[in-house]
Order: sequence, then C-alpha cells, then structure tokens
Amino acid sequence: MQEILSRLRADSRVSTLLRTVEKSLTLFDPPNGELKLLNLSLNRMRALGAKQALRCMPSMLAVNEISWCNLQCPQCPTHGTPEWHKFQNGKDRCLSSEIMDRLIGESFQTATLIKTTTHGEPFLSPHLDSILDGCLEHGTPAQVVTNATRLPIEQVAKALVLSDRIVLSIDGVTRYAFEKIRKGAKFDKVLHNICVLVSAANALPEKLRPDLFIRPTVMASNLRELPAFVDFARWLGVPNVCGEFVIETAPHVADENVRLHKPLYNHVAAEATRRAEMHGVRLGFPAPFDGVQPDADFPFAGDRRCITNWPDSYVPEFDADEVNLSVEAIMADAAKLVVASMDYYLKHSWEHERTRIAAGQDDAEIKQTKQLVDSVIANLCDDGKPEIAFCGFVDWGVYVRPDAGVAVCCAGGPVVGSLAEESIEEIWNGKNYQAFREEFYSSSPPAVCQSCRFLRKVPKRLVADSLRYSDD
Ligand SMILES: C[S@@+](CC[C@H](N)C(=O)[O-])C[C@H]1O[C@@H](n2cnc3c(N)ncnc32)[C@H](O)[C@@H]1O
Ligand code: SF4
Repeated sequence: MQEILSRLRADSRVSTLLRTVEKSLTLFDPPNGELKLLNLSLNRMRALGAKQALRCMPSMLAVNEISWCNLQCPQCPTHGTPEWHKFQNGKDRCLSSEIMDRLIGESFQTATLIKTTTHGEPFLSPHLDSILDGCLEHGTPAQVVTNATRLPIEQVAKALVLSDRIVLSIDGVTRYAFEKIRKGAKFDKVLHNICVLVSAANALPEKLRPDLFIRPTVMASNLRELPAFVDFARWLGVPNVCGEFVIETAPHVADENVRLHKPLYNHVAAEATRRAEMHGVRLGFPAPFDGVQPDADFPFAGDRRCITNWPDSYVPEFDADEVNLSVEAIMADAAKLVVASMDYYLKHSWEHERTRIAAGQDDAEIKQTKQLVDSVIANLCDDGKPEIAFCGFVDWGVYVRPDAGVAVCCAGGPVVGSLAEESIEEIWNGKNYQAFREEFYSSSPPAVCQSCRFLRKVPKRLVADSLRYSDD
C-alpha cells in the first residue's frame, strides 16, 4: 500500500493539483465557527441546569434520510431479516427533498457535526449530494459510515474533503468470515474500494484528510479475527480500529452475544491491544470483562450465529496474498478520486472566505452572547450538585428518520416531533423534547436511558470549564 501512495503522489496531474491546494489552504477557514461554538455552549448550558429558558439548535444531526441498503448482514438491526430488509428498502423510506432542503437550510449553519445515513448505506442516498454540499456551504464537518461496496467517485470525493471521520465497516478480514457476515458483499471488490479510498485520503494534504477507522461489529463469528483487524489496518495505512459489541437484534443471531464468550473476548482483546501498541494503531474495542480469565480455546455457545462451522483450512489472520487485488486498478481509481476531491475543494474554497467575511458583521452580537454565557455558567455551578447526567443526544443532537420523525436518539428514545409538521427549531425547543429532558435530569431518568450505554455521569465543573470564554 505504501508503494501505491508514493506512486499516487508522483503522478503529474495529482502532484500539480496537490501543490495548488497546499498553497490555498491558508484560506481554508470554514464559516460559522463562532456561531457553532456559541450554539454548542447554549446546549451545554441546558445540561448544566438552564433547561427551559434557552432557545438554541441541535449541535449534531444524525440524519437517517434513507434506510436503504444493498446488503443484508444477519446481525443488522435494520436489514438482518428478509422482512426488515423489505420494509427498510421500501420506496417511501426516504425523506422528501422538500424536507431535506428545509432541514439543511435551517440547521446546518449552527451544527458542529452531521452524521449521514446512520441505518442505511450512505452511497445509495439520493440526498447525499445535498447533505455534503450543505456541509460545505455552512462549514459543518460530516461523518460517514459505509459498507464500502460502492465507490461513486464524485460523491466519495466530496465525502473525503468534508468528513472529519470516515468509518469503513467490515466484519471480517478473511474472505470466509467477511462474506458470511456482510451478506451480499464480495471481499475482493470491497477491499479494492477500501484500498482506493484509503490511498486517496492519505494522499490529501493533512488539513483536509479525514480520520479513517476500520470498524468491525464485535461478535462471536469474528471474535478470533479481532487481532488481525490491527494487522489489516496497519497494512492499509489506516490509523484507527474501533468496534462495539453487537447489539442483540433477533433470535437467529442471539448467540453472537459477546457476553456468552467472555474468556475468549478477553484473550483476543489482549492480543489486539498488544499488536496495536507494537504497530502504533489506535484501538477502540470495548474494555475486557473484569475478573474473567482469558481463554483462547473457550468454546462457542449455541448455533444462532452468522457462522456456525469454520472450514478446516480457516486461519483467523489477514493474508494480503489471499486477496485478488490489482495495484494498477487501485492506482487508476485512487488518482481519479484525488483529482475529483481537489477539483471540488478548489472550486468551492473561495465560498468559505466570502461567508466568513459576511459572518463577521454579527461580531457585536456574538460578543454580547459570550458575556452572557460566562455569567450564566458561573451561577449554574453553584447549586451544590457536583455531577450531571450526560448523553451524546439529549443536549447535543437529534436523530432524524426517513419518515420525517425526529427522535431523541438512535437507541430507542421516543419520537418528539415530525419535520412534516414543525421546524427542527420548534422540535428541539418544543414541549415534548423539554419534558423528556426534565425527566432525564430528574432523580429517575426514563427507563430507556437507565439501561443505555450512552448515559454517563460527568463532573459539572468539567462541562462548565469547557464552555467559559473568559479565563477568570
Ligand atoms: C447499520 S450500519 C449503516 C451504515 C453502513 N451500511 C455500514 O454498514 O457501515 C452502521 C453501523 O452499525 C453496525 N452494526 C450493524 N449491526 C449491528 C448490531 N447488531 N450491533 C451493533 N452494530 C451493528 C455496522 O457494522 C455499521 O458499522
Ligand atoms: S451494510 Fe450496514 S446497513 Fe447494510 S445490512 Fe450491513 S450493517 Fe446493515
């Protein structure tokens, strides 16, 4: 992979474009930075206790504008059974263009992060161009999680320039496990696409380069391969490997549950950590189970899994020679991708400068609001309670569904409004969401939150200090 990157950088068209972009990077100052920070402060102030008084906008939008996918991974909560897959791929499981455009116009300016297509495949979305162009116009970073089965060059080029993070979901680094779990995908094709995307990303100037992640869903069927994900990332030139335990979705995959395989998990997690430390790969797997002795030979539980028997020839390691890859084909596609990314950046970077100057006109108002933030924060911390409940959604973001419903989160939180009837500002500050927040911060949070992995307790001071504008 290193050879591909060197050849890519030496390509005459690529290197000329890269030089032009490097020169213009000093201009790259995304618009609305002050506004976004201020809005974030207002949201965090609600978490600190100023709940009802403030009107603000969501800082994060998880926009699930479609739920369509071309794969049918058995463990997937959206596509894992034929019935779910059929329902989620229905024509009507798509936000209307009118609502999508309204949402972008109304909320992207104040948002600090847009997650695209969280439950389907982003590169199938008819709205992806509008979302990414909206991110560009309003200076908002995007985050893309993809199965990498498709590589539409123009859209991937935009995603490369605009994303602060791209997550490549693959659940196996051997052909056998990959094709059993990622049902409908071809190992060689996906690896080609991943090599193209990673080479192109690594060729971009650092300031434009998204942070790349390899992400398996950690489950019984790929447990023994977890350490090999680190080797795979290193081979590719991807700096991060992350993963979450599989969420139990349906009886046919109930035995994928990692809690049924704790000793084996502790063994592979330790080995993955050892390899990550040795090779300088950042690893984000769940912590090992406390007090459980690692055991490499711990037997698999039950047979409700994606893989029930492995062939005798199966070796749970990544083997680059096992993959049918063409260096020339990767080079050609990666060069196209870098050129398309740079063209997109150069065509639009001046717009950032123009918007930034226009935004400067609001400076006086922004200054006043900053002073207000500081004085309110000082009072909020003096109520004798050192900790607050904290969740990545309640005072940060929303989850938008293909049917225009707006839910508190993607983890079972209630629907609090519909974009077909109200604006996002009305929903975010409306009585349904405020009532949910009240309960969330009370001594008995909603049942859905009590069992949720996103819920944490954090020191109030930590939140307050991160918001304060003045140093004293
Ligand atoms: C639902 S997918 C949608 C995006 C895209 N289609 C993909 O696969 O990356 C989002 C993420 O959820 C993960 N995922 C799928 N089924 C899961 C489960 N049962 N528990 C936890 N994560 C799961 C996928 O591996 C992927 O990283
Ligand atoms: S590719 Fe993603 S959305 Fe599609 S079935 Fe697999 S996990 Fe689900």
